[in-house]
Amino acid sequence: MKAEISHFSSVLLEWYGIHGRDLPWRRTRDAYRIWLSEIILQQTRVDQGRDYWERFVRRWPTVELLAAATEDEVLREWQGLGYYSRARNLHAAAQQVVAAGGFPDTVEGLMRLRGVGAYTAAAVASFAYDLPAAVVDGNVYRVLSRYFGIEVPIDSTEGRRLFAAMAQELIPADRAADYNAAVMDFGATQCTPASPDCAMCPLAETCAARAAGRVADLPVKQGRTRVQERHLVYIYIRCSGEVAIRRRGAGDFWQGLWEPVLADEGGAEVPEGALLLASGVKHVLSHRKLLCDFYLAEPKEKPALPAGYIWVKEEALDAYAKPRLIERLLERLP
Ligand code: ADE
Repeated sequence: MKAEISHFSSVLLEWYGIHGRDLPWRRTRDAYRIWLSEIILQQTRVDQGRDYWERFVRRWPTVELLAAATEDEVLREWQGLGYYSRARNLHAAAQQVVAAGGFPDTVEGLMRLRGVGAYTAAAVASFAYDLPAAVVDGNVYRVLSRYFGIEVPIDSTEGRRLFAAMAQELIPADRAADYNAAVMDFGATQCTPASPDCAMCPLAETCAARAAGRVADLPVKQGRTRVQERHLVYIYIRCSGEVAIRRRGAGDFWQGLWEPVLADEGGAEVPEGALLLASGVKHVLSHRKLLCDFYLAEPKEKPALPAGYIWVKEEALDAYAKPRLIERLLERLP
């Protein structure tokens, strides 16, 4: 695990050196400007947040000036960003900082500021003071769960604890700021939720989710884990001693295994005269419950097959790796 950890962190830092985003709040060590960027980015995308950040620092270049503004002025400048409690907290926190004589320089101190939670405190502590406090958010859950193949739900107490502990173990003490920025950018641009760019990923070769074909399934969420039901209708099309099968692709269960023709996927329909061999067969996978019907069709001539299917000799079928469920269904063939 230790070697894997340092591999992960060093490859990530190397990636950041090439692909990291050049953002204005990364060119300063001023806690005020960094904190301001983090509050804006709590619920706003970088593209949009950037303009606001620039306007704020132009209008209020120091925390003292922001604290001296009226709440209305701050709200006015915030207009369009939404979640206006952030603006009110921003103003109140600025006054807290001025009253205390300056920005707190510990994670605990930062967390006492209005509107500052664990993520924002870790971000400011690392970016402004180089403290080795790891940020933990959706990006981090996604990247870590995939790379280390962790199936513990991220919305469970165990999951939150585990990911926070891992993140803290992964952050190199001497590169805390770069590491946090790297995870943020890697999650935002490379290891994205819906279409991660695995083909161009420097961590792909050692990524556990990639090896297991589970990239699309991670991170696991309890909400999502509650077993989803899927209804599968298989047609065993047998003709001239051959049978139509295909190999299942990435992005779904049973990746790489072979199966007969699936109705309702890719346009196949149960042909008239097909024999129903089994119906309502249940099969439970880790995150899914399958309900399956199984038909036999024996057309006189080979029909055109939906894309992806091939004809193979029925007697050679044994040599193709199949899910247990399919094996069980095949046992029912006359
Ligand atoms: N999201 C939250 N904080 C960020 C930061 N400092 N840079 C880019 N994206 C972020």
